[in-house]
Amino acid sequence: MRTQTYPGTSLVASRLAFGCMRFPTDRSAVIKAVRTALDQGINFFDHADVYQAGRCEEAFSVMWSEVPGLRDQIILQSKCGIRRGEPTPQSPTRYDFSYEHIIEAVHGSLKRLQTDHLDILLLHRPDPLVEPEEVARAFNELHAAGKIRYFGLSNHTGSQIDLLKTAVAQPLIANQLEISVWHPTLLNSGVIFNQDLPLHPVRGEGTLEYCRTHKITVQAWGPLAAGRLTGKPLDQADERTVKAAAVVQEMARARGVSPDAILLAWLLKHPAKIQPIIGSMNPQRIKESCQADSIELTREEWYTLFGAGRGSPMP
Ligand SMILES: NC(=O)c1ccc[n+]([C@@H]2O[C@H](COP(=O)([O-])OP(=O)(O)OC[C@H]3O[C@@H](n4cnc5c(N)ncnc54)[C@H](OP(=O)(O)O)[C@@H]3O)[C@@H](O)[C@H]2O)c1
Repeated sequence: MRTQTYPGTSLVASRLAFGCMRFPTDRSAVIKAVRTALDQGINFFDHADVYQAGRCEEAFSVMWSEVPGLRDQIILQSKCGIRRGEPTPQSPTRYDFSYEHIIEAVHGSLKRLQTDHLDILLLHRPDPLVEPEEVARAFNELHAAGKIRYFGLSNHTGSQIDLLKTAVAQPLIANQLEISVWHPTLLNSGVIFNQDLPLHPVRGEGTLEYCRTHKITVQAWGPLAAGRLTGKPLDQADERTVKAAAVVQEMARARGVSPDAILLAWLLKHPAKIQPIIGSMNPQRIKESCQADSIELTREEWYTLFGAGRGSPMP
């Protein structure tokens, strides 16, 4: 698998990353999925403290004894800032970028992952009550203690990043966003921003351009659209999804690769050097997804997929 360096860092990451949110309860299935990813050349693993209430981070720690020396060979990322089901199960889901919560959450992740540092910490979803100075204090302390090497965001717009930058001194190196052929909203916003009757709502306009301008690596979550276009039953699906699935299947057939690999190749072609975070736990599917690394879509193919995902041709 080819690699790419996070600009301004020493992190050399595989083009595809592996998301650990959907870890199965069976530990041997976890080991098999992670081993398959490693065998394919994936060296980047994405977590969050909230994934299965911490069980995904805990389960991953079994890999340290499974693969000796692994910790130094991989880039380990986790996220914090979402709180659910505490202090009582009735408490509302909320976001919390307070100094105390960031520090406490990171210590929880390090303990569950059984490691002394994370390579990247992302703030999971923008907290409207954020005080950039508090984030800065937490980041400074975690960085100085060697607990976090680099910092980034997830689901943030450019202006939200600018707000954090008023106080945060460390470079913000990543922004993890939902992007796929099925969910091309961030790309579409740039195309339709000045249409009188947009076929789709304009959301997140300029976010990808902001990341490119500021050399923030874009990570794509949901890159396989959870199988909606590539294998999940379509009997309940809307017309756009059914038609887009047919386009993806046909392109995969013509190229002799898996439909999931086509979806990933579409992301990899984007000049933002998008790093898809795949969430499959199926070893065969993980292997087939990695075919994307050797696919170079033409512009015609790329726009065919974009139009299919939009549900309408380009304006
Ligand atoms: N930052 C955020 O807010 C955020 C939000 C969500 C996720 N994430 C991160 O992104 C990662 C990926 O997210 P995701 O898992 O939603 O994305 P995904 O890769 O689009 O979806 C993976 C899911 O799709 C299924 N799937 C894929 N291809 C399929 C096919 N051909 N047929 C049937 N099922 C298929 C997989 O099932 P199998 O396991 O059976 O292959 C798995 O359940 C997560 O692990 C997490 O690390 C971040």
